[in-house]
Amino acid sequence: MLRPHWWDTPDRYGLISRWLHWGIGALLLWQLGGMATRALMGSGEWIQLWISTHRPLGTLLLGLFTLRALWALFNLPRRPPHRGMPARLAACSHLLLYLLMLAMPALGLYMTWRSGQPFAPLGISLFEGGSAHVDQMLLARQWHAWLGWTLLALIIGHVGMALLWHGLVRRDGTLSRMAGRGR
Ligand code: HEM
Ligand code: HEM
Repeated sequence: MLRPHWWDTPDRYGLISRWLHWGIGALLLWQLGGMATRALMGSGEWIQLWISTHRPLGTLLLGLFTLRALWALFNLPRRPPHRGMPARLAACSHLLLYLLMLAMPALGLYMTWRSGQPFAPLGISLFEGGSAHVDQMLLARQWHAWLGWTLLALIIGHVGMALLWHGLVRRDGTLSRMAGRGR
């Protein structure tokens, strides 16, 4: 049985949305942080170890993103509203974050499939492997890279707006809808 404080309400996000928001946020930062560290510092041994979680974790994230998107849709009528132009823009940026969160692992899986390699994250066989389709793989890889860095930039903007603008400048309670007491 779902308890009342697990659901979203117009005043705050419920416990399930909060767990999904903070849990996925941490995993995504690990995922993007590994790639950003490699881009800045090269491929040292510990960075390779970090990156070795990229494909299985990215695949797991596709499941978590899907659950989150379904939960958000299910709660749509009772979530905190976004009225007025700045709030509507914020809601559009959230939609963009959702689209990118879903597109990234989908592209990652597609490019792995088109590379012809076998892929078995956490021992579960997803692709057997076969002939490579290099053009499609390279195109997907290009999109995966561009959209990945776009997602990182959007997340930095999102965190800046939440912590600095809403948390420090306006102090309007937006932060506590996601971070305050869940009850
Ligand atoms: C320190 C990090 C973060 C802080 C302080 C933060 C803060 C917040 C706050 C206060 C809200 C509610 C905004 C509102 O009601 O208008 C929110 C919503 C949201 N945040 Fe974050 N956030 C963080 C990290 C992330 C990350 C890494 C993502 C990943 C893409 C993310 C995606 C979202 C989305 C999509 C929403 C809309 C609500 C939902 O559907 O869950 N956030 N965030
Ligand atoms: C949340 C999901 C994901 C995010 C945010 C993400 C992000 C990124 C980023 C930013 C890069 C670096 C791009 C560059 O080289 O400039 C990258 C590379 C890569 N990603 Fe992902 N990715 C995700 C999921 C996946 C999945 C599910 C797979 C495959 C199953 C995958 C496979 C790869 C591969 C093969 C590379 C190239 C690595 C290399 O050059 O050694 N990614 N990803």
